[in-house]
Amino acid sequence: MSGEDTFAQPHKADLKQENEQATAESRQESQPAAEAAAAPAAATAAEQSPEQESTYRSLVLSGHGGYDKVKLQIKKGKPTPKNGEVLVRVKACGLNFADLMGRQGLYDRLPSPPVTPGMECSGIIEALGEEVTDRKVGDRVMVLYRFGMWQELVTVTVSHTFLMPEEMSFEEAAALPVNYITAYMMLFDLGNLRPNHSVLIHMAAGGVGIAATQLCHTVKDVTVFGTASASKHEAISQGGVTHTIDYRTLDYVDEIRKINPKGVDIVLDPLGGSDTQKAYNLLKPMGKLITYGAANMLTGQKRNLLAVAKTWYNQFSINALNLMHANKAVCGYHLGYLDGEFELITQVVTKLLELYRQGKIKPRVDSTWHFEEVGDAMRRMQERNNIGKVILLPEPKKEVPKKEEDKTDEKKEESKSEEEKKEEQQEILKSREN
Ligand SMILES: NC(=O)c1ccc[n+]([C@@H]2O[C@H](COP(=O)([O-])OP(=O)(O)OC[C@H]3O[C@@H](n4cnc5c(N)ncnc54)[C@H](OP(=O)(O)O)[C@@H]3O)[C@@H](O)[C@H]2O)c1
Repeated sequence: MSGEDTFAQPHKADLKQENEQATAESRQESQPAAEAAAAPAAATAAEQSPEQESTYRSLVLSGHGGYDKVKLQIKKGKPTPKNGEVLVRVKACGLNFADLMGRQGLYDRLPSPPVTPGMECSGIIEALGEEVTDRKVGDRVMVLYRFGMWQELVTVTVSHTFLMPEEMSFEEAAALPVNYITAYMMLFDLGNLRPNHSVLIHMAAGGVGIAATQLCHTVKDVTVFGTASASKHEAISQGGVTHTIDYRTLDYVDEIRKINPKGVDIVLDPLGGSDTQKAYNLLKPMGKLITYGAANMLTGQKRNLLAVAKTWYNQFSINALNLMHANKAVCGYHLGYLDGEFELITQVVTKLLELYRQGKIKPRVDSTWHFEEVGDAMRRMQERNNIGKVILLPEPKKEVPKKEEDKTDEKKEESKSEEEKKEEQQEILKSREN
């Protein structure tokens, strides 16, 4: 496989096309999400007659900042798959923590705005480029890319698509790639997880956390320590976390030492900053620390430079001699930098799909949101409310028809004279004073 056939490189051509398209569109003033949703173009491309120019819905990061920086745009035309590519009609997309960081300009694998984020999706193949022999129109696939997947239609290199098992839903398929590949490679390729090991999983109720917990239980007698907000403890215990820890009110190091005085065999560290040092200290001899994120940089909707600086300042470092004396391993993992290793990724996905078929793993979907609700979807994750994966749906949100009695109430309200309305208001005010 050439370097071009990776999940970062082939996108360069797409990126150029994408940026040109998105730039042109952003010049025309991006439509706010709700407005775009209500526009006639919200009819999906599939619903339009052949004479009409087809359109498709796409989320575009217009600049770094808060939730409103991700805009819903209606793009014209229909992408054509090139040699070795397929056109996928997307049914569901995954929201990842990296998308929150990318929105704030803290994720260097996402190109500068305007750009369509999204590293994973699932859908149905609608057209084949030349030289595609191992996929057919109608195949249900999940897709892993570096960015650009939050769209109703995407063209992707065929090697980045994986056939979905029949029993898998589109939401599950959109929830699987990033979280499960990450958890699998950390635990098995770097962590060398074995029977009787103990593992500390931070953010245990999140996408990667739940994937890692399920994968731990594919090995005999593994003890899982999981940190999460207290309201999620029941759910993660049921999901396989042996010891739940509320990191917001307790010192997780103390809590683990009370149960395992010697520490743990593996720590998965998505937090960074001072937590990486704590993770290292918590390792038993022969233990492994796998650092794979910097969630501590994120404190709110907009970038917090103090939190970013603090996380950088407290970065863990160690010299080789100390490492040798401690009999510990420190590893780093970043799926976004596994460019050029797509064969390796494919092998991992094959194993994951086998585990799915055997019923040993199953993505947990926290909630689904239509593209026009992307701000609320991001808020849910950022405000620490999700248990499992947050999913985005390209399909337009349907207006719920109002009930007859609501309509009658509205009519009654409209027909009231100004005098009557004033009287009613006076009565309300009086009752409040009393
Ligand atoms: N290196 C890689 O290749 C790779 C790939 C995927 C993910 N990751 C990393 O893995 C971590 C988990 O990612 P995910 O996509 O699965 O997300 P997630 O765990 O679903 O993220 C949301 C949850 O994280 C917890 N959390 C901890 N610190 C937070 C903070 N500062 N702001 C908001 N929430 C915070 C909250 O739950 P509780 O309060 O309940 O803990 C929240 O509900 C992230 O650090 C991400 O960057 C790395």
